[in-house]
Amino acid sequence: MGKILVIASQKGGVGKTTTAINLGASLAILGKKILLIDMDPQGSIADGFHQEAYEIKNGLYEVFVNKIPLTAAIREVGLENLEIVPSNVKNEEQEIDLFAYALQNKLLKSILKPIKQMYDYIILDCPPNLGTLTVNGLIAADLLLIPVQAEFYSLKSLGKFLSSIKNIGNKYNKTLKFSGILITMFDRRLKKSREILEELQYGFKDILFKTIIPRNSKLAEAPALGKPVALVDLTSSGALSYLKLAEELINKDNRI
Ligand SMILES: Nc1ncnc2c1ncn2[C@@H]1O[C@H](COP(=O)(O)OP(=O)(O)OP(=O)(O)O)[C@@H](O)[C@H]1O
Ligand SMILES: [Mg+2]
Repeated sequence: MGKILVIASQKGGVGKTTTAINLGASLAILGKKILLIDMDPQGSIADGFHQEAYEIKNGLYEVFVNKIPLTAAIREVGLENLEIVPSNVKNEEQEIDLFAYALQNKLLKSILKPIKQMYDYIILDCPPNLGTLTVNGLIAADLLLIPVQAEFYSLKSLGKFLSSIKNIGNKYNKTLKFSGILITMFDRRLKKSREILEELQYGFKDILFKTIIPRNSKLAEAPALGKPVALVDLTSSGALSYLKLAEELINKDNRI
């Protein structure tokens, strides 16, 4: 059965897009049919596959604002089982329009309903805020993944973010389940990071993914090559950890 996984966090630069692309690619490599939707007007998903904004006719903007069918905005990326819907916002005015149309907070849910069963997972990459586009994602989703870095400020903002999500879930999406909190860009050499990892493991042990994503230069370089890390270097720690995460997600999901 198709599942919608939303990747969200209030903090910027924590690895949401990196996780969306590389978890999506890893699930595709494991034979799952994946649609990756860019909910962020920054448009990083298309960038990550070297798809130029000016060449893209249809994206999330046209789906939300011009009401074209979502299927008209789906694009291939050169990896079997993986397709994307780019955000395709060309200027500030369009960005404001997109956020405004997303005030209809169940819009994405209704757009995804007819295609949900065509995929094993639909992955939503959200902007770094709890604005209307993220709320659309949270209302449409079955599963939530929150990436965090093992840093002092993460602990504080994570608690606040979780209670905001609980409120949104209680009000608009009672079936939203926790997929997990994912530690990203982890550097085992740093004592402070190891200490914060322990705190996260203590405070959130039931909802923390066992897989930890290490800081890995191949992961940072892959977008510039227009590919997921698994197609750049399958033996890198970045590629192996996202494959492990994909397996963990599938197994966890099977138990629900
Ligand atoms: N595990 C990692 N190792 C090394 N670099 C990483 C890793 N994960 C992400 N990065 C790099 O960190 C930066 C931020 O990552 P990313 O864009 O995925 O975060 P984000 O949460 O989507 O950001 P935003 O909030 O702006 O959307 C990028 O330059 C990315 O290449
Ligand atoms: Mg991003």
